Amino acid sequence: MDLAYTLVFTVFPYLCLTTFVLGHAYRYVTDRYGWTARSSEFLEKKSLWAGSTLFHWGIILTFFGHAGGMLVPQRVFDFFGISAGAHMTVAYWSGLAVGVAAFVGILLLAWRRLTQPRVRVVTTVNDAVTVGALIVVSGLGIYNVVFGHYNVLYTLAPWIRGIVTFTPEPMLMREVPLSYKLHVTAAWALLGFSPFSRLVHIWSAPVYYLLRRPIVMRRLTQF
Ligand code: HEM
Repeated sequence: MDLAYTLVFTVFPYLCLTTFVLGHAYRYVTDRYGWTARSSEFLEKKSLWAGSTLFHWGIILTFFGHAGGMLVPQRVFDFFGISAGAHMTVAYWSGLAVGVAAFVGILLLAWRRLTQPRVRVVTTVNDAVTVGALIVVSGLGIYNVVFGHYNVLYTLAPWIRGIVTFTPEPMLMREVPLSYKLHVTAAWALLGFSPFSRLVHIWSAPVYYLLRRPIVMRRLTQF
């Protein structure tokens, strides 16, 4: 039993994290011109907008919610007068809002890929796996929020902190319900797969665009 927990909740996460880091380095060196979101906007724009906007806002805010809510120990929240109960209530409602946005968004994107002939024809197996995995991970997340009602602050959250601080404690996951175990395991697998998919575009978010010096545009004068 202990061995199974060590394999699933320590060895597997580190395997996925290693693949994530080395995979991105390998992809960057070997396929720099393939490092792209492979946007299909020029093939079909109308239905992309709703799905892509909902999904991107939802998934990015979900990421920050996960990081802020679980990587920061509850004792820090206690110090600022935020009880575990209040923490869980905020996590529930904000998680529900952004999680539903991400889930509905990715379903719309999957529907678009299935029903728009021009988009369907350029969809690869890799795209299908990526979108399918995002549906599974976000769907299990929503399931946990709506039906789970499990307090993660003293088991799952310290477990994930143990992983990122290289002090893993897999047995913390013993009490955690199955649907949460499936959610985190599917998320690790997606992380390990992401360097080999279009998800590499996440690391090329055009943040410097906001800081770059303005370009002065002048009309050409005729002499
Ligand atoms: C960091 C900021 C991000 C930027 C600037 C960004 C930008 C883009 C752009 C320009 C596209 C192509 C056009 C479109 O489909 O909207 C795209 C597609 C996509 N992005 Fe992102 N993205 C970001 C983060 C993410 C994250 C965090 C995920 C998932 C974990 C993600 C998953 C996807 C997927 C699955 C598609 C393909 C959608 C489809 O065509 O079916 N993106 N992204």
